[in-house]
Amino acid sequence: MNNCIVVTGGAGFIGSNFVNAWVQLGLGKVVNLDKLTYAGNLENLSAIQENDNHVFVQADIGDREVIAELLKTHQPKAILNFAAESHVDRSIHAPGEFIQTNIVGTFNLLEEVRAYWNALADDDQKNFRFLHVSTDEVYGSLTASDPAFKETNPYEPNSPYSASKAASDHLVRAYHHTYAMPMLTTNCSNNYGPYHFPEKLIPLVIHNALNGKDLPIYGDGSNVRDWLYVGDHCSAIRRVLEAGKIGETYNIGGWNEMSNLEVVHTLCDMLDKQRPKESGSYRDQITYVTDRPGHDQRYAIDATKIERELGWKPAETFETGIQKTVAWYLDNQQWVDNVTSGEYQKWVGKNYQTREGA
Ligand code: NAD
Ligand code: TYD
Repeated sequence: MNNCIVVTGGAGFIGSNFVNAWVQLGLGKVVNLDKLTYAGNLENLSAIQENDNHVFVQADIGDREVIAELLKTHQPKAILNFAAESHVDRSIHAPGEFIQTNIVGTFNLLEEVRAYWNALADDDQKNFRFLHVSTDEVYGSLTASDPAFKETNPYEPNSPYSASKAASDHLVRAYHHTYAMPMLTTNCSNNYGPYHFPEKLIPLVIHNALNGKDLPIYGDGSNVRDWLYVGDHCSAIRRVLEAGKIGETYNIGGWNEMSNLEVVHTLCDMLDKQRPKESGSYRDQITYVTDRPGHDQRYAIDATKIERELGWKPAETFETGIQKTVAWYLDNQQWVDNVTSGEYQKWVGKNYQTREGA
C-alpha cells in the first residue's frame, strides 16, 4: 500500500474542501474520482491543480472497471466516499439518480474495494480504512423537545435523498459485519462554507439577495437545522480516519441549531452592513413559498461521542463561520456566476416557479 488516499466526489462542495485541505496540509497524495455532475466543479480545485499530490480522474463510482484499475494502480491506504446526489429537493423531483449513485453506485464501489482489500497482505488489510461520509438526515425528523440524534437512534429517513443515504450506510455496515472490512461511517449535520452550490439555503440566499431576487422560505421558516462550518466537518473526518474505531459510526455536528428564518435574517443583516442596498433591507426580499413535501421539522446532532472518544470539537462558531462564508461569496462572485449559468437556470425554473408565493 502507498501513502495515498482515494476520495470520491472530491469536486463537490465538501469533497473539494476536504481535498484542498488534505493536499495543502501536506498529508500525502489524493486520487480524486468524480463524475462531474452539475454539482462537481474542477474550479473548486484550482488552488491545487499544479500539485503532484492531486490526481483527478473523471468517472462514476459505479464504474467497476475504472475503480478496479484505479485501486490496482494507486494501492491506496484508505478510501473516503463523499460522492452522492445530495439535494433533497432534487430527490423529490427525480429520485432515480439518487438510487443509482447513492445505493447502486456505493454497492459497486464496495464490491471493488472488497476485491482489492481481500488481496492485500495481512498488515495492509489491518491498516486499510473505508470511510463513508453520510448525513444526519438518515435519523428522520425531531420535534422541538426531542433529544438530539445519537449514533444509537433508529434510522427513519423521510426523503428519497435520506432514504438512499440510509441504504448506503446499511451496506457499509453490512460489509463490516459480513466481510470484516475496516469500515467507518460519519453522519454530519448541515454544512456551509466556500464552494457550496447555490441550490442550498445559505448560498442561494446570498446569491439571490445580491441579485435583487426573492429569498424563498419554505413553509413558515420554523424548520431547524444544526449548522457546521465545512472546514470543521473536514477536520472531523480526518480525525475519524486517523483514530476512529473500526465498524463504528460517529455523529458530527456544530452544536448550533437555528431556524431557517433565523439563518436568513442573519444573512440579510450581514449583507445590509457589508453591501447596503440603495434603500431598504435585504429582509424585504423574503418571500414565503409552498413548503417542501415531507419537510423534516428539526435536525440536531449530539456530537458527544466524537468529542469524548476522539477529542474532536468544532473550531468555528456560527458567527465566525458565517463571516468567513459571506466574505468568500463576496470575494468569489465569478465562481458564483460560473455555476449559476446554464443548467442551474433550468433547476430554478423547475423548483421555484411551481411554488405558490414564488
Ligand atoms: P455535492 O452535491 O456538492 O457534491 C457531490 C459530488 O459527487 C459532486 O462533485 C458530484 O460530481 C459527485 N458525484 C455525484 N454522483 C457521482 C457518481 N455517480 N460518481 C462519482 N461522483 C459523483 O455534495 P456535498 O454537499 O459536497 O456532499 C458530499 C457528501 O457529504 C455526500 O455524501 C452528502 O450526502 C454528505 N453530506 C452533506 C452534507 C451537506 O450539508 N452538504 C451534510 C452531511 C453529509
Ligand atoms: P437545504 O440547504 O436544501 O438542506 P437540507 O434540506 O439538506 O437540510 O435546506 C436547508 C433548510 O432550508 C431546509 O429546511 C429547507 C429550507 N430551504 C428554504 O426554506 N428555501 C430554499 O430555497 C431552500 C433551498 C431550502
